[in-house]
Amino acid sequence: MTQPTFLGIDVGTSSIKVISVGPAGQLLASTSSPMTVSVPRPGWSEQDPEDWWNGTCLAIRSVLADIASPAVIGVGLSGQMHSLVALDEANRVIRPAILWNDVRTSAEAAFIRETVGNESLRRLTGNPALEGFTATKLLWMRENEPGLFDRLAHVLLAKDYIRFRLTGEIAIDPSDASGTLLFNVVDGSWSNEMCSLLGIDPGLLPPIVGSSEIAGTITSAAAAGTGLEKGIPVVGGGADNACAATGAGVVSPGDALVTVGTSGAVVAPINTPVTDPEMRIHSMCHAVPNTWYLMGVVLSAGAALDWWRRTSGGADFDDLVEETATVPPGSAGVTFLPYLTGERTPHADANARGVFFGIHGGVERAHMTRAVMEGVSFALKDSLTLMSALDVNPSGAVAVGGGASSPRWLQMLSDVLNLPLRTVGPSEGAPLGAAMLAAVGTGAFANVVEAGGAWLTDLALVEPIADVPGVPSAQDAYAVAYERYRALYPALRDTFAADAGAAGAIGARPQR
Ligand code: XUL
Repeated sequence: MTQPTFLGIDVGTSSIKVISVGPAGQLLASTSSPMTVSVPRPGWSEQDPEDWWNGTCLAIRSVLADIASPAVIGVGLSGQMHSLVALDEANRVIRPAILWNDVRTSAEAAFIRETVGNESLRRLTGNPALEGFTATKLLWMRENEPGLFDRLAHVLLAKDYIRFRLTGEIAIDPSDASGTLLFNVVDGSWSNEMCSLLGIDPGLLPPIVGSSEIAGTITSAAAAGTGLEKGIPVVGGGADNACAATGAGVVSPGDALVTVGTSGAVVAPINTPVTDPEMRIHSMCHAVPNTWYLMGVVLSAGAALDWWRRTSGGADFDDLVEETATVPPGSAGVTFLPYLTGERTPHADANARGVFFGIHGGVERAHMTRAVMEGVSFALKDSLTLMSALDVNPSGAVAVGGGASSPRWLQMLSDVLNLPLRTVGPSEGAPLGAAMLAAVGTGAFANVVEAGGAWLTDLALVEPIADVPGVPSAQDAYAVAYERYRALYPALRDTFAADAGAAGAIGARPQR
């Protein structure tokens, strides 16, 4: 008997992940092909799209081999945001893809801020000119690789390149277009005004296709590479953060996604577009029609704890975190700023660096570990604080990523964010969201809310520890520690900037 299934493919930075999900949401198979990032110069971050394709073919073949008589109904795609994949007129890749965490484009980001101005940037795109966004990379290519730029005919993002290889179709969905800085997130179309201000030919940009609309079907060549049957539909898919939210059922206002993976994020869906006047928080189209989300990104979340684990003797994660049970909330005055690779939200500052503050003679490793976990939690709280200023106040959130699998960190997050946090299964993140979009696009469900209802189960609920009258609560201690945390960056900003050259000499940055 054949097994009907939907495939979700996530073109991530450290791996290509493919999952197979049955019509009732059962996980039938899951595999990933590891990817490496090339750092040809300090601050650069590149991958070869051909490696993505080879990794995708391998992972799809492996997933299909793990299922008895698979019958794939539809394929969904998710991927790392903001990357630049450059194709020529004959649809050949003309240089390695420049990734979201590449910071070679500081001069171009400054040029966009000066040329367009923050008010117009907000009106036209809803987002700030940051190094990671696609438009800065296009300007860098025009300036530094004019010969290649002259040959440029199509600009794609990571998942869209894989769609091109699977279906032969050139397209992008609104959630990924939102991260290019050339897309008007409010009206859901490319911004001709932004293109003309930057001198970019809008003809380079792909047509927009909805995240759960069918964008093409598997070609004979793709069938030969992947083992899929020719003609299977492939939907528009979405940005990895949009798909991670979708795959956790976070698609409606009032809810949020809190990610503590290598990097961290808070994603809060909204049903009318809102942009931050100071653009400290991103505004993006969701992978769901007529829905947007606000997003804060913490560049080093789990990466900060992993750095501390390696640096402090390489203890096992669980043992290290368990040690913190002896340390009270607030880490006895020790504060940690997790800006190991600069920061995005709320301080878009590539020069910022990690800091331990308040060390005294009584401080032991457990205090430092707890301070790292608290620092990352406070960084995530900063995003919620900015959202609240825009009247976006989630009443609960789904927690995902490695940090969410630690009960101790989950309780700390709930106390610091003052939010009930739930975990959901299957916790497959972005590829599950991609598979859901395929299920909706091929008619198995009317929309992602229906798909989430059928596929997802709440696993656990963690609530902020209740106040006991007369007894100082964890929240009280965290409130004091958060104020100390918030005071440190403004006090150090100029020193970070003055020290930027020395920090740059470190070279390669850790990858997500
Ligand atoms: C979001 C961002 C990262 C990448 C990683 O703005 O840059 O989360 O999407 O894949």
